[in-house]
Amino acid sequence: MCGIVGIIGKENVSGSLVEGLSRLEYRGYDSAGIATIAEGRLGRRRAVGKLGKLRERLNSEPLGGKIGIGHTRWATHGAPTEANAHPHATSKVAIVHNGIIENFAELREELVAAGATFESETDTETVAQLVEHYLAKGKPPAEAFSSALGRLEGAFALAVMVESEARTLYCARRGSPLAIGRGEGEMFVGSDAYALAPFTRRVTYLSDGDWAVVTPETVSIFDADGAEVLRPEQLSDASAALVDKGEHRHFMAKEIHEQPEVLGHAISAYVDPVGRKVVLPEGGIDFSKVTALTMSACGTAFYATLVAKYWFETYARLPVETDIASELRYRDVPYREGGAALFISQSGETADTLAALRDAKEAGQQVGAIVNVPESTIAREADALYPTHAGPEIGVASTKAFTCQLATLASLAIAAGVARGVLSREDEERLTGVLLEAPRHVAEMLHADKSLEAIAAEVATARDVLYLGRGGSYPLALEGALKLKEISYIHAEGYAAGELKHGPIALIDEAVPVVVLAPRDAVFDKTISNMHEVMARGGKCLLVSSAEGLAEAARGGKVWGEIAVPEVDPLIAPIVYSVPVQLLAYHAAVAKGTDVDQPRNLAKSVTVE
Ligand code: F6R
Repeated sequence: MCGIVGIIGKENVSGSLVEGLSRLEYRGYDSAGIATIAEGRLGRRRAVGKLGKLRERLNSEPLGGKIGIGHTRWATHGAPTEANAHPHATSKVAIVHNGIIENFAELREELVAAGATFESETDTETVAQLVEHYLAKGKPPAEAFSSALGRLEGAFALAVMVESEARTLYCARRGSPLAIGRGEGEMFVGSDAYALAPFTRRVTYLSDGDWAVVTPETVSIFDADGAEVLRPEQLSDASAALVDKGEHRHFMAKEIHEQPEVLGHAISAYVDPVGRKVVLPEGGIDFSKVTALTMSACGTAFYATLVAKYWFETYARLPVETDIASELRYRDVPYREGGAALFISQSGETADTLAALRDAKEAGQQVGAIVNVPESTIAREADALYPTHAGPEIGVASTKAFTCQLATLASLAIAAGVARGVLSREDEERLTGVLLEAPRHVAEMLHADKSLEAIAAEVATARDVLYLGRGGSYPLALEGALKLKEISYIHAEGYAAGELKHGPIALIDEAVPVVVLAPRDAVFDKTISNMHEVMARGGKCLLVSSAEGLAEAARGGKVWGEIAVPEVDPLIAPIVYSVPVQLLAYHAAVAKGTDVDQPRNLAKSVTVE
């Protein structure tokens, strides 16, 4: 989490630093700051809150200098105060940091014993003090930096400036991502290519363990053993990505409404619409030989694996295990010989997902990555890459990335079914045809935006909300509850509808809306009878189903609210039903007046454990 930038420019860099940070605000927004060197002196401005607060600060107290570093923070150690905001600085060293220094407490003790005085509670300041400590011992800056790196444990990305060197940035990457952007007589450092997009498309990603010395004309990269290495330069597509809200009030609304288009991109990457067959990239996972499939991810991406489990079991008859990455990475998993593992991540940088991927790879699994950022670490470390083509997702709550993950996973499940001889040619034609219709049905569903807004206004007054579903709709119940709580701060839980009577039904009363997700599939009748159990206890149910489903259910009694969804094949029901779930959460949050795109305590990319 946290975003970092560094610039050695030709002009005053403070405006460009803030511009780079504005593209990284999705990584954290508790506080922000920049530091520069002007006329041989380190200067710093920091502010608590979003980037706008730092802009205000810089308007009243501008900062000159042609070299600088900047940071937008998601707090790990220490509260979001100005003292804890980055950059951290000693009298000679300024630093920005993303990640966690695990051994900072013992380093701090050692430095305090040697006479250092700390001004913050953060792990980051320890690194600044450590570099200063080695400078004081007479080491030249590059050596002081590499000596400090040698003492650090943890996962991090760093950018450092030393006051006496107004033409050099030092940076390092261990675990957390870092990219270097090359210009003509100017250089840039950033947490991702989006941060660099306003300045250059020429991007070099540091490999894990690398550190670099950057001047306006040169970039020297060293590996963890200190040997100078060459890392390839790539032309990033991030520059082309238009990151604005268009006519929408929030990024989240824009991203929900973009889904017909981006789903079209995702599906057409894997499905040949003329031949009605799935076409996967060369060199990918060979599903014909796979003995078992493990899938893992965090949060919303994990719910995509739960939906995909049904698909891989049904269409490919493949034994599937899924687990949350933060659990999987610490389990002693007896991975099956000949197995494959898929890791799903919008950002491609989630620390737990990456660690679980590395374990599976080490255990000899064929490893595939389903990511939205093809240059990300997870993408680069996997054996096979399946991009989701959702385009940049800026709203913290994942929407279009989720449905594009589902579309990609559905394509893979069909491909696996064909490769394993479970699906016939006719089956493949039918299922790909159904998948190709998903964008149209999602577009149709979006017409319900206004009616959902009205229902959401009522849901917004509740203290607790329950979501119920069975089969592929059970993960959507979990997703609906997550979406609602993360952006509206209303307490919500998702349950498998059949599980309700084993405990949660005790929560039912007339103050708790129960959202029932019930496509007309093989378990429709079961879900509806669970809904009637709730209604019999005074519960107020909001039924989400097709017009036919709503009519059938009404025979058993009148529900509190209804949302009509197009009648679709069960294969794509989870994709289409995602839309009402997202819109309900979105409008409830707007009704409550919360910060929809940047809800409290969250960050878009979770690069710490
Ligand atoms: C919820 C949400 C998160 C992410 C999770 C994984 O709306 O966005 O739960 O899904 O943090 O992030 P990625 O997909 O980047 O690995």
